[in-house]
Amino acid sequence: MRIAVLGGDGYCGWATTLYLSGKNHQLAIIDSLVRREWDQELGAQTLTPIRPLAQRLDVWRSVSGQSIDFFPGDVTDYEFLSAALGAFQPDAVVHFAEQRSAPYSMIDREHAVFTQTNNLVGTLNLLFALREGCPDCHLVKLGTMGEYGTPNIDIEEGYIDIEHHGRRDVLPFPKQPGSFYHLSKVHDSHNIAFACKTWGLRATDLNQGIVYGTVTDEVGLDEGLVNRFDYDQVFGTVLNRFCAQAAVGYPLTVYGQGGQTRGFLDLRDTVRCIELACLHPAGPGEFRVFNQFTEQFSVLELAGMVQAAGRKLGLEVSVSHLPDPRVEAEKHYYNAKHSGMVELGLEPHLLSEALLDSLMSVAIRYRDRIDAAQFQPLVNWRRASNPLALRRVRRVRGQAKSIQQPSRKGKNGRATTSPAVAQLAPAAEADLPGS
Ligand SMILES: NC(=O)c1ccc[n+]([C@@H]2O[C@H](COP(=O)([O-])OP(=O)(O)OC[C@H]3O[C@@H](n4cnc5c(N)ncnc54)[C@H](O)[C@@H]3O)[C@@H](O)[C@H]2O)c1
Repeated sequence: MRIAVLGGDGYCGWATTLYLSGKNHQLAIIDSLVRREWDQELGAQTLTPIRPLAQRLDVWRSVSGQSIDFFPGDVTDYEFLSAALGAFQPDAVVHFAEQRSAPYSMIDREHAVFTQTNNLVGTLNLLFALREGCPDCHLVKLGTMGEYGTPNIDIEEGYIDIEHHGRRDVLPFPKQPGSFYHLSKVHDSHNIAFACKTWGLRATDLNQGIVYGTVTDEVGLDEGLVNRFDYDQVFGTVLNRFCAQAAVGYPLTVYGQGGQTRGFLDLRDTVRCIELACLHPAGPGEFRVFNQFTEQFSVLELAGMVQAAGRKLGLEVSVSHLPDPRVEAEKHYYNAKHSGMVELGLEPHLLSEALLDSLMSVAIRYRDRIDAAQFQPLVNWRRASNPLALRRVRRVRGQAKSIQQPSRKGKNGRATTSPAVAQLAPAAEADLPGS
């Protein structure tokens, strides 16, 4: 199968790309590498030293014998995106290429506008590019469980069977998103559902839980393939962040009471879910929804598990309850359905002591790279502008961005340019971080 991964340089995207390439699918990454700029903007860095994408792809080719195409560019640029898809002709497009941090979207007006512009315009462009260039291609779109919020009833998988004033219907499950980022995902879902209904596109919306872990079988093959591990207050997801905090003896930062309960999954299950979605595509005109997580935990439960794992390694781990910077229920009912992926064949990796040990050992291995100042939550939902000393966000400029040369090698061993990139011939951007 030919699979284009939008956002393939990111945390989920890199692991997914390697996994699918390892299964002998033909892969292309479409990514502007803008995420590496956001790290610079925040003065943060991934715990693990990720290599520039061109190097990563070279390492993968040497360990696996598989080539992956790279189309560098911004999905908010329609000309670039449609040319890249036209050149690659995918059977499936996996769309990870969005700004995915709730705190980032809540920094101030500029970041909220940027998040929604980046995410909505990118997805809308993708819908039009599919409609125009490859209408039979299956869109696999990453959404989030955070779209639903925390209703006081069970959360269904996408749709709810409702009886109202004596009449019945099956309707999209109500959404109560908790940040401008989560709102962008809800707006995306509506746009995709509309495009499926109107144009007959086929799409799977994956409401993913919070992902933990950093290693998959493929990522673990070589140090040069190492994946992101974000631990900072803006991009660090909770379990990864707790492990980094434990590794340097920093109290685990639990927001409020810590009764916030969410769905979680291992990165190895993320990649398998994407594969299952691709292998079992939605039908023409179908907008299919899965809740993609395997277990639910409260934040305090996770803190307790990290404390226990740290103790086994001789680490003294304390918990600090900070005032919750978010506007959210700190204790609530939570029961979300998640049977669809298991029915397709997912065999979950549940959060075990062994996995926590391995996460802790990654954090300990790289602990010299940890900047404890990055742990303190500085983005408060109640403020319209937060005092983060940030450089300006890169604007959506509506033009292709060439950030690194594609790493494909021609017969003479020299790097070649992928067809869509050659056609677009964008100028190289000098100010991009190497890692
Ligand atoms: N990480 C999680 O725990 C989690 C949980 C639920 C849902 N998700 C969703 O999964 C997706 C991937 O998450 P992630 O953690 O891998 O994020 P990430 O930030 O690590 O990766 C996103 C990638 O997309 C690229 N990108 C962003 N905007 C782009 C644009 N306009 N054009 C081209 N490339 C662009 C970035 O450069 C980056 O490489 C996101 O859509 C996110 O909402 C993630």
